[in-house]
Formats: sequence, C-alpha cells, structure tokens
Amino acid sequence: MYEKTTLIADHRHLNAVPSIPSVIETPTGFVADALARPLQDLRISLTDRCNFRCVYCMPEEVFGKDHVFMPRSSLLSFEEITRIARIFVNHGVKKIRLTGGEPLLRKHIENLIGMLAQLKTCDGRDLDLTLTTNGSLLAKKAQSLKDAGLTRVTVSLDSLDDTTFKRMNGVDFPVSEVLRGLDAAHAVGLGPIKVNMVVKGGMNDQEIIPMARHFKGSPFVLRFIEFMDVGVSNNWKMDEVIPSAEVVRRISAHMPLEEIEPNSTGETAERWRYRDGGGEIGVISSVTKTFCHECVRARLSTEGVLYTCLFAANGHDLRALMHGGKSDEEISTALAHLWRKRTDRYSELRSALTNDISRPARKIEMSYIGG
Ligand code: GTP
Ligand code: 5AD
Ligand code: SF4
Ligand code: SF4
Repeated sequence: MYEKTTLIADHRHLNAVPSIPSVIETPTGFVADALARPLQDLRISLTDRCNFRCVYCMPEEVFGKDHVFMPRSSLLSFEEITRIARIFVNHGVKKIRLTGGEPLLRKHIENLIGMLAQLKTCDGRDLDLTLTTNGSLLAKKAQSLKDAGLTRVTVSLDSLDDTTFKRMNGVDFPVSEVLRGLDAAHAVGLGPIKVNMVVKGGMNDQEIIPMARHFKGSPFVLRFIEFMDVGVSNNWKMDEVIPSAEVVRRISAHMPLEEIEPNSTGETAERWRYRDGGGEIGVISSVTKTFCHECVRARLSTEGVLYTCLFAANGHDLRALMHGGKSDEEISTALAHLWRKRTDRYSELRSALTNDISRPARKIEMSYIGG
C-alpha cells in the first residue's frame, strides 16, 4: 500500500545558511512579508520523536522500528531555543507553540517553559505560551507544566471509541488515558483547552457526532481538522478529506450551529456555536478553504531550521548562524530580511489547481516540524 520512503532525519544539509545583511537593523516589533502578513506566531518543534504512530502523520509502515530519528546531538539546547525565541518576539511574535513529534517527550521541558515564560511581547505583555500534545503524558505532567508557566494546551484526540482511536494512533493507546490528561489539564487551569480531531474519511468520520456530543457544553473547544497532504509519507488522497462544510452540515442536522466571528485575524479555525448555548466548535479547512492569505506563522525545527511554511521543502539554518558566532543583532536582521521576502501560500496554490496536482517529491514531515 505504501511506497517505501526513506526519510532523512537530519535535514540541515538541504537548507541555506542565511546571509547577514550589511546594514544591521534594530527590530521595531513589526515585520511584514511580501504579502503584507506580519510575523506573529512561532511554533517550535522540540523533538521529531513520538510515542504514537498516527495514520495521517507517522504511519507505522514508514516510521517503523528501523526509522532513524534525528541524532540527539543536533537538538537545539534550551538556551539556544530561548535566544532565538527572544529574537522572534522582538519582531512582533505574541504566541509561541511548542510542538513535536510529541513535545512532552523532550526531557526537562518544564525548564524550557520556565525560560520562555520570562519573555515579554513588544508591548510588555506575557506571551501566549502553549503546547500541542497527544495527551498521553498529560495526566502526569499537567501540574508541572502549569507551575513552569505554560498558559494553555491543545490536545489531539481523533475518536472516543477505543477501537477507532487505537487504529488511528497506531500503538494501541487507550482513549481513557487521554481523557484523564484532558481533565488534569483543566483541573490545573491550562485553559482554554482545545481538542483537535483530524477527520480522515472512512477511518473516523463516524466519530464526528459522538465527539461533538461529548464535548458540547464542556470546557473544551473541539476542532475538526481536514486531513492534509503534509509531508510525503501519509499516502494522502483527496477522497479521504471530509470538507469542513460537510462536518458542519452533519453536526447541524442534530445540534443546530451558527457561525461566529473569529477571535483574531490569521486564525486557523472558523468558529461555530450551538444555537442552544452549548458552546462552540471550530473547523480547520486547510484543504477546502485555505487561510494562507492571513498566515502569520513561522516554524522552527528541533535542530534550529526556520521554515516559513508548513509545506516548505527548504529552510533557513539559524543554528548555523548561532554556531558561527553571529550576534543577536545580526541574526535578527537576517530574520527580518528573510521574512520580508516570504511569499509562501502552498495551500492556496494547491487548491487553485486540480485535485491531482503533481505533488512535490520532497516536503517536510509534520512530525518533524510540528502541527
Ligand atoms: P490556537 O491559537 O489555539 O487557535 O491554535 P492554532 O489553531 O493556531 O494551532 P493548532 O496547532 O491547534 O493548529 C491546529 C491544526 O491546524 C494543526 O494541527 C494543523 O493541522 C493546522 N494548521 C496549523 N497551522 C497551519 C498552517 O499554517 N497551515 C496549514 N495548512 N495548516 C495549519
Ligand atoms: N492533516 C491534518 N493535521 C495533521 N496533523 C498531523 N498530521 C496531519 C495531517 N496529515 C496535526 C493534527 C495533530 C497535530 C499534532 O498535527 O492536528 O493533532
Ligand atoms: Fe505523534 Fe502528533 Fe504525529 Fe500523532 S499527530 S504521530 S501524536 S506527532
Ligand atoms: Fe501558512 Fe503555508 Fe499553511 Fe498557507 S500552507 S497557511 S502559507 S503554513
């Protein structure tokens, strides 16, 4: 079923080392790209490892026992991550999301959170410091994450039915443990908590209504995500995408919904609320209703490579700049130049073409760069 794909763990050789401009700039707290999109959101991947093998992300057939992960020696240190994060924050970043793989597998993550929580936005506020997790270690870690200064968490959960959930996560992990993690996160105040469900047609779409019913009226905001063609290993097919409009239609038939205003521009999710006051849901239409025109997100890989799009094949090696002895001012100026040149809008271009577009042979895996 799957073509044998060799994934390269260390991607750095594919990336360019940014040049340092001759005129050094002082950051102003605002830098916009070539399509007028400001830099506001930084996602930092802390590991390419995960204890799950979700069918849409790290299928067992590709990420089997002999899969070579990135050598631990190439991980950025917490000091290096914090240094880069500070440079981004000075350019206007307000939200930092820690991702993976599974970020809670990174040892002593609480120490990093403590360091990042000290950073302030350009207007002197606390950062929105959040984390995306599969929830498997959350029951154990919720309190220490909160104590370290994490603002909130987002938990991936694709089904409430144990058989379906186990089939999706690929490692027989029980749903009850993730639900326990959600409760623990809520109890310690890591909210507002979002629950992300990737909908893969023929796999878990029968779980749309049970999931909606379960989380209706709860403190958790459930969001349905269209199965994306991210990476090259998940065997993506358009006919396995359930369009968000269909998700809304199915739920609305049982529990009527109405659309509401976004919280902020550049949000991935469209918001809908139950007409009877039962709270809200979100739909993330990365395939059928793209949001590239407002994309304010930059991504930093575990080894310090900056990607300006989730679907980028090549990145910019910021670690090489640090290891080359460049100053914060030099790296900051190089970053401003990179962002100003940014024109990425992969999803928009994909949807402007036909469904069977010839997909690039090499794309970064979601488990490497994070959700
Ligand atoms: P909130 O601040 O909590 O609203 O988070 P968010 O929606 O920005 O981030 P989250 O990591 O929860 O994103 C949810 C899902 O949206 C991801 O897992 C991806 O499937 C998808 N997604 C997030 N960012 C992008 C993006 O820049 N491009 C595309 N195509 N999809 C994205
Ligand atoms: N399509 C959509 N979302 C994906 N994620 C990973 N792979 C995909 C994909 N192919 C996202 C999910 C998951 C997070 C860690 O990454 O939202 O919850
Ligand atoms: Fe792991 Fe998240 Fe990918 Fe699932 S989606 S394999 S939990 S990184
Ligand atoms: Fe941003 Fe690229 Fe996603 Fe478009 S496809 S929203 S440009 S990350």
